[in-house]
Amino acid sequence: MRSLGRFVLLLSVVLGAVAWGASSLFNRQARGWAERDLSMRSRLALEGARPALVEAGTNAARRVLEAIVRDERLMAAAVCTGDGAQVVAAGSLPAGVSCHALPGEARRPGPAGWDQSADGPAGAVHLTVLPVTEEAGGPALMLVHDMSFVDRRAETTRRYTFFAFALVGLVGAVAAAVAARLTWISWTVQLRRVLTAPFRAVEAIAAPRHFQPLLGDVRDLVSSLAAEEARAGSSWTPQRLRHVLRRDLGGESVIVVANREPYIHERGDDGQVKVVHPASGLVTALEPVMRACSGTWIAHGSGSADRDTVDGRDHVRVPPGEEAYDIRRVWLSREEEQGYYYGLANEGLWPLCHIAHAPPEFRASDWEQYRRVNSRFASAVAEEAKTPDPIVLVQDYHFALLPRMLRDLLPRATILTFWHIPWPNAERFGICPWEREVLDGLLGSSIVGFHTQAHCNNFLDSVDRYLESRIDRERHSVVVAGRETLVRPYPISIDWPSRWTSRAAPVAECRAEVRRRLGLAPDALLGVGVDRLDYTKGIDKRLLAVERLLERHPDYQGRFSFVQIAAPSRTIIESYRALNEQVEALATRINDRFARGSWRPVVMLRRHHEPAAIFELYRAADLCYVSSLHDGMNLVAKEFVAARDDLRGVLVLSRFTGAARELSEALIVNPYDIEGASTALATALSMPPDEQEERMRSMRVLVGELNVYRWAGKMLRDATRTRRRDRLASRLSSPGALPS
Ligand code: F6P
Repeated sequence: MRSLGRFVLLLSVVLGAVAWGASSLFNRQARGWAERDLSMRSRLALEGARPALVEAGTNAARRVLEAIVRDERLMAAAVCTGDGAQVVAAGSLPAGVSCHALPGEARRPGPAGWDQSADGPAGAVHLTVLPVTEEAGGPALMLVHDMSFVDRRAETTRRYTFFAFALVGLVGAVAAAVAARLTWISWTVQLRRVLTAPFRAVEAIAAPRHFQPLLGDVRDLVSSLAAEEARAGSSWTPQRLRHVLRRDLGGESVIVVANREPYIHERGDDGQVKVVHPASGLVTALEPVMRACSGTWIAHGSGSADRDTVDGRDHVRVPPGEEAYDIRRVWLSREEEQGYYYGLANEGLWPLCHIAHAPPEFRASDWEQYRRVNSRFASAVAEEAKTPDPIVLVQDYHFALLPRMLRDLLPRATILTFWHIPWPNAERFGICPWEREVLDGLLGSSIVGFHTQAHCNNFLDSVDRYLESRIDRERHSVVVAGRETLVRPYPISIDWPSRWTSRAAPVAECRAEVRRRLGLAPDALLGVGVDRLDYTKGIDKRLLAVERLLERHPDYQGRFSFVQIAAPSRTIIESYRALNEQVEALATRINDRFARGSWRPVVMLRRHHEPAAIFELYRAADLCYVSSLHDGMNLVAKEFVAARDDLRGVLVLSRFTGAARELSEALIVNPYDIEGASTALATALSMPPDEQEERMRSMRVLVGELNVYRWAGKMLRDATRTRRRDRLASRLSSPGALPS
């Protein structure tokens, strides 16, 4: 608006000057015409009056002059002698005008007469003096015309000219502003098309000539990025991730917000503090990213010795002994933890998003705590941010409201929110009584990520149904209140090569050690399952499939055991406690049914295991069965593949996991189909070594390429584009860029 104001002001000044010049020119011209006109009228008047003036006496001459001055513009007429005496006169001579006052050349005018205009005290007058006879020095007729009408006309002309120019100026300014705005819109649309089109499509866009220099710059930029990418190779590593963060985002570090902390300090029964790695896919994925990027991980301080290990700012450097980044712990009261974590997050949103037949519970008191805790974490992020535009990675369903709260606190932050669990279809999502608040909260993010395109589509459908917004299905984005959020699939993964694999003993040793520890024969066949004790994991279906295998293939009785690690999880929640008892009872029943001597078909290990022990188990196993009833990704499947650098072992994988979309060389099963799952277990146990190798090699190539650095790298690269676009947009819309 300011630039439009300047434009109109400049236009007004220029048009005002032109109007003034034009009216002056016109008035001068009009005055000349009027003088010529008056002079001619004087001559005509003399022609009519001459006989009376020459031949009649003074009285007759006066009457003639009186007749002449009846003309409204004639003020006075007089006959003057050559020496300036007045013979006869009519009308009223203005002050200072008389025969006597005429200059010498006017007293004795030549045949063409004498004319002059003059400004008197009562206005402009025009004098014409004409010889009455041809005799030199004879009497002359002086006619005095009132010229004030010329000034009045000039004034009127000036006014009309000014108004005409003002009108033209106004119409011109509006037309110019509209034209500029249209040009501007078309220019920015083209610019956006170029900036947002895929690289190859940039070539295909027909841009106007004036646009070419910018297009050239974009091309150079894209090619240099492509060249750099080619130089770096296609694989993602911690170094490459760090490079993207520093070069493209200008960030030295990131802030992660997740409920679960990567290192929990627990005080043991002996009073010693020990560090625990929690059983969490989120932690498995994010922890290597934080080692690479450094920064701060904000999480709930849930360990019994957490408060004893932080500094005055509630920070602790981790990993112990390596100190690559900070954990900032947020302390929650029992009520907050109960309402936010156990209540809304795990009894509401968790069953809402998983098709596992557990009805969600939504309580207003839980929602209050959820909002409160989200706001406390948002404040913690604002405290930790070192710049006004930090890069914040918000993790999971515990923090659906935080992105919007953070956007209000730090409008320029780049907020990448990743939802680690599935997103239900729009109809099911509508069960949530706060569906609008949850969606709007998430849309405070720059990018919202899910594991699969299907979950992105469900999210967009939910936004479409419950929120007023503009959805761009081609760009996969949502615009709310003028701000765009990208909605993209980023399949999560694990670090590669896995540090737990490289630290593990050789496979033969792991096999021998695990069998010895579990009291199994050295040549026993071993299946493994690793999960939190959660109803979405289908642990009961898994055990039923093992039972069915033993029924259908009795030759495996006494030879095959299935070891299930079941890390206690969310034990305050009734459905988790019930699951614990149900699984225990099932394992006992199966063991009672088939046990022989010291052999047991099912070994339930219901306690927390550290990653080193889990990787040892993976390496010792002949098969790993992941039977989730619904799972965003499931990283156990990928960990098993990462652990098997000997290219042995078979992965049996539920088709209801995100991982099944990538790991197609696994034996894909429907965990509800106990018959089919037991067949897959039998196939796995009898699979020839070369087929195992072929399948495992192919899955290892895929997990190696699609590792967690790629997951984070892709999000950060998309964030880079969003940042650049936002910066460009704010520069283009800033005052002074072009008329707005
Ligand atoms: O699947 C969602 C998730 O956050 C996982 O990333 C993680 O494995 C699990 O839930 C952890 O649950 P909790 O933090 O409640 O123990």
